Amino acid sequence: MRIANDQVAVITGGASGIGFGLAEALAGRGVRLVISDVREEGLAKAGAALAEAGAEVTAVVADVSDEASVRALADRTKSAYGRVDLVCNNAGVVSPAAPLWEQTAHTWELMIGVKVLGVVHGVRAFAPLFIEHGTGHFINTASSGGLAPLPDRTPYTTTMHAVVGLTETLDAELKRISPALGATVLCPGLVDTPLGQNSETLGAIRLPPGTPSSMRAAASGRGGILSPREVAESALAAVEAGRVHVAPGGGVVERARARVAALLTDIEEGGR
Ligand SMILES: NC(=O)c1ccc[n+]([C@@H]2O[C@H](COP(=O)([O-])OP(=O)(O)OC[C@H]3O[C@@H](n4cnc5c(N)ncnc54)[C@H](O)[C@@H]3O)[C@@H](O)[C@H]2O)c1
Repeated sequence: MRIANDQVAVITGGASGIGFGLAEALAGRGVRLVISDVREEGLAKAGAALAEAGAEVTAVVADVSDEASVRALADRTKSAYGRVDLVCNNAGVVSPAAPLWEQTAHTWELMIGVKVLGVVHGVRAFAPLFIEHGTGHFINTASSGGLAPLPDRTPYTTTMHAVVGLTETLDAELKRISPALGATVLCPGLVDTPLGQNSETLGAIRLPPGTPSSMRAAASGRGGILSPREVAESALAAVEAGRVHVAPGGGVVERARARVAALLTDIEEGGR
């Protein structure tokens, strides 16, 4: 899908990080915005910053894990602009670092609620509007942890793998209706955002004392950390090129290739 002036985009988790980067990148192309987040104060600040930079922006508080809240977001979008072209199902939190047998049922319920059902609610609320309009595209944010194993983060990596599979299938379902409809899954490596701090605020994790407030500082020495705006530009380029997957970040392609190669080797050997 070509991204053009006067289109309308909805971004969940838009108050911070990658969501805010998507908002800036889209506003730079003249797209009108609905940014949404569960953190009211962060959302108000983000909305004010985007408006000050010249964006046309509506801010709507919504919890993506609550279907009624996401339906209300779709209703607000329709009443504000009468159309929607791009929906970024991006909101997310991270899970605590521990092996699977130490992850709690509460963590699983939270991660499935936000990351999997959050995307499902977004698709169920907005796909009918795309279909009615004849065009539209979803960007679903997963992670490089959705393309390869990520030890000590199973609730995160499981839900991210789910978002990859969900988006591949969703794209096929939308394309059956029209080639002007589609979906792209965004699987970045490490991005410089306050994901840890926001996840703590939202009760998803407890950060050890002394954790650096910036992801860049936490990742120092590991290299290859991206800015949210770089990730956003890669995502928009993928939408325009009609790609279903986009995975910016150092080492991500190599990790995905190793996983797919191991998978094919195993099933080819087992199939003989
Ligand atoms: N930062 C990274 O290194 C990285 C890498 C790969 C993927 N991701 C994924 O990118 C997405 C965005 O994360 P980010 O790094 O920009 O973090 P972030 O914390 O800066 O942004 C996430 C936003 O989602 C919001 N949010 C959380 N739960 C919500 C809910 N239930 N309803 C509505 N909003 C909610 C938060 O308040 C926050 O503003 C997440 O899904 C994350 O897993 C992040």
